[in-house]
Amino acid sequence: MVNHPVVKEIKELFAVDKKALRNIAGLFKEQMLQAIEGQPSSLQALPSFLPAATGREQGKFLAIDLGGTNIRVSGVTLNGDGTWLVQAKVQRPWRDPEQGYDLTTADTDGEELFDFVADLVAQAYAHFPTRKLAMTFSYPMEQQSRKEARLLRWTKELKPRNTVGRRIDQMLMDALNRRGLQEITLEAILNDTTACFLTASYQERGVIAGSICGTGHNTCCLYPFFPGNPPIIINLESGNFHLLPANDFDAQLDALTENPGQQRLEKMTAGKYMGELWRLVYWEMVQKNVLPPPALAWLEQPFSVNTEQIGYIYADPASPSSRQWSRQWGLDHYPPEQLSVLQAIASAIIQRSMGFIAAGYAGIITALPAVIHPSTIAVDGAVFHFLPGFTSGVERLLADLLPENPPRLKLTPDGSSIGAAVAAALPLYSME
Ligand code: BGC
Repeated sequence: MVNHPVVKEIKELFAVDKKALRNIAGLFKEQMLQAIEGQPSSLQALPSFLPAATGREQGKFLAIDLGGTNIRVSGVTLNGDGTWLVQAKVQRPWRDPEQGYDLTTADTDGEELFDFVADLVAQAYAHFPTRKLAMTFSYPMEQQSRKEARLLRWTKELKPRNTVGRRIDQMLMDALNRRGLQEITLEAILNDTTACFLTASYQERGVIAGSICGTGHNTCCLYPFFPGNPPIIINLESGNFHLLPANDFDAQLDALTENPGQQRLEKMTAGKYMGELWRLVYWEMVQKNVLPPPALAWLEQPFSVNTEQIGYIYADPASPSSRQWSRQWGLDHYPPEQLSVLQAIASAIIQRSMGFIAAGYAGIITALPAVIHPSTIAVDGAVFHFLPGFTSGVERLLADLLPENPPRLKLTPDGSSIGAAVAAALPLYSME
């Protein structure tokens, strides 16, 4: 069945060979250099005003992780020796139908969103009474210093009103004031890729980039941005890279999103979108009578499948978790050959994602003025953590693209909370 002409055709649509990946790496490098020089580019070079960590950072901090799916606040103690302790962790999803709230709709106001954040800060603060706060903010923002950031746009799930173009630090502090938490000070605000970078560089030397592939995708790297100062971390917003070969399914997916035309790399690689690509391909297979429809009606519903779910079938359609998943999704009547087709679709999409991510990393490394060897890229996010073989697959492809000095990938769990604390503990530099 996996050799069915339609299945073969689809696999070809998603296939990218080494030559194509080299070409993408070259284009990525060009776009990155253009962004750094202030020329028009699909990438950005947004300074974080933060250098790499030394490993000696210490203190107690409240850390907000404002992500794509959840908001989390933790109390973090940095011991000053590359180790830490996380306490008082409180977490809520942006949307919880059982609790009757949804902050991801366009009706949500910025104030409402930040009041929700302030409530969680209050809860964590009650158990971990430290006044120093830092926030990892996983959306594009332009910084004037490490403590000030203006929101450029929303990506992924959130789209609250009255927020774009406004100062994120002020919206947060206003909400904390409304909540009676005037004594808390904001020490740093940083992107999640920067937080991932800082967490890894707190633990070891040689980190050159930080990257997330979770709900969304993005990468930052260390760059000598302000001559005469230590290199700082710059956020490339690489999920917006657009010089990629796109097929008809990519176009269909793009049209279903809130931000058509934007975040092209993200929409081909990240967790929010790979499940949707899989659904679109599956739908076409049903239309062409290659596969029967599932017994339950979800296949016509956009964004009804997430990447974690296709991860089961990708790993092994016969595993107990895959079988349980197939039952829940009305695929009981599928014989193993038909489940293998679903696995082949997932595999084609996931392999392409690995290739594009590796090509992006190769582009960054070749654009950097000097790279120490051996070097490390810190990575985090559900796609790296939960898709079997993803991290090692990207590492292998990267070694193919950069055979002389391939970087290693370091899985950096909890990076958003720890990295926020590290940012708050770093000394200030004069470039601010
Ligand atoms: C955002 C980035 C973020 C990435 C990973 C993207 O959608 O634009 O700022 O780093 O997701 O969370």
